[in-house]
Parts: sequence; structure tokens; C-alpha cells
Amino acid sequence: MSEPWSRISLEQGDITTLDVDAIVNAANERLSGGGGVDGAIHRAAGSADLQAACRQLGGCPTGQAVVTPGFALPARWIVHTVGPIYLNGDATCPKLLASCYRRSLEVAAEKQCRSIAFPAISTGVYGYPFRDATRVALETVAATLPDHPGLQQVRLVFFSADDLSAAQDILRTVRSG
Ligand code: APR
Repeated sequence: MSEPWSRISLEQGDITTLDVDAIVNAANERLSGGGGVDGAIHRAAGSADLQAACRQLGGCPTGQAVVTPGFALPARWIVHTVGPIYLNGDATCPKLLASCYRRSLEVAAEKQCRSIAFPAISTGVYGYPFRDATRVALETVAATLPDHPGLQQVRLVFFSADDLSAAQDILRTVRSG
């Protein structure tokens, strides 16, 4: 089926700069901020405002997603999702990672978003092997999008050129499989 793929794109960049309705943050369960993309989003949104909004939410379990305003970001909303900390051979890891993508799309659709950008959840500090995580991301987004016709644009954003190139390779495999 080609339909969901026409709404999915891959690119290299800094997710904090994107003019989309929502960006997704790879957060931790306490929503306490951190390094990586989480740190970049907190700095760009305005740390004080975003920390106060996160405190009110009181945390987010792994595999779930919650939303705050984007504050100083170009994006109107931040969808905070918590990826699994990778454990080799643990069958719950792919399920939890898939749940992050699915729940983030659901939360964005509830906010009437038409465009959303994702970072490569769990592939940094949380240690998920990049290729495996990217396959889960692509398969889950493609499988979930038919439930959300309003979400016209899903941008998967990779920080490095190498990651983008690997992801393009995986996209070809997933689409031909
Ligand atoms: N834009 C897009 N992608 C980025 C950016 C950015 N500005 N900064 C980092 N990345 C990419 C990394 O290259 C990596 O591929 O985001 C991906 C996810 O890496 P992490 O940010 O380390 O996220 P994760 O592995 O899910 O670990 C989450 O790290 O910062 C803490 O509080 C966070 O404890 C949580 C943990």
C-alpha cells in the first residue's frame, strides 16, 4: 500500500528548528530534561517554562506520550514520549518503541496536528541499535497513519548524514518487504 508512505519523509537536521505543528521529544519517565535531543528541546523551548509544564504532568511511563505547549519553539506542541532503555534480547523493547510512535501520533491527532516531526527515539543514550529502531519506527508509523487522516506530514529527523543515509536504506528494505 503506497498511501501512508506519501505522508512520511526522512531528513537530516535539528528538530528544534522545524516549523511543524508538533515535535516529539525523546524524554525520560520523570520528564526532567536531560542531554541529547531532550536537552536541545528544553533549551530552545525555554527551560523554565517547559520544566514547569513537565512538572505539572508528573511524569510519563515508558511507551506512552504526553503533550505540552512548544513555548519558544516554532512548533506549537511538544509530544514527550519515553523510549525503552535497550536490553539485548528483551522482546518488550520493540513493543515499547512501537508504542512510542503509535501513542505520539495519537496524541498529536487529538491536538488536530497536521504535521509532526520525530527524532530517532531511544537510539542515543538509551542504546537502541539504530537500524533495528529505525525499522520499528518506519513500520509503526506506516501502520498507524491510516487511523489518522488529518496527519498529512510525518517527518523523521536524523541528526547526522550517516544516520539519514542508513535510514533511507532501511526505508527501501521496509517498502520492498
Ligand atoms: N535534533 C534531532 N535529533 C537529535 C538532536 C536534535 N537536535 N539531538 C540529538 N538527536 C538525536 C541523536 O543523534 C539520537 O539519534 O536524537 C536521537 C536520540 O538520542 P537521545 O537524545 O540520546 O535520546 P534517547 O536515546 O531516547 O535517550 C533518552 O536521554 O537526554 C536523555 O532525558 C533523556 O534520559 C533521556 C534519554
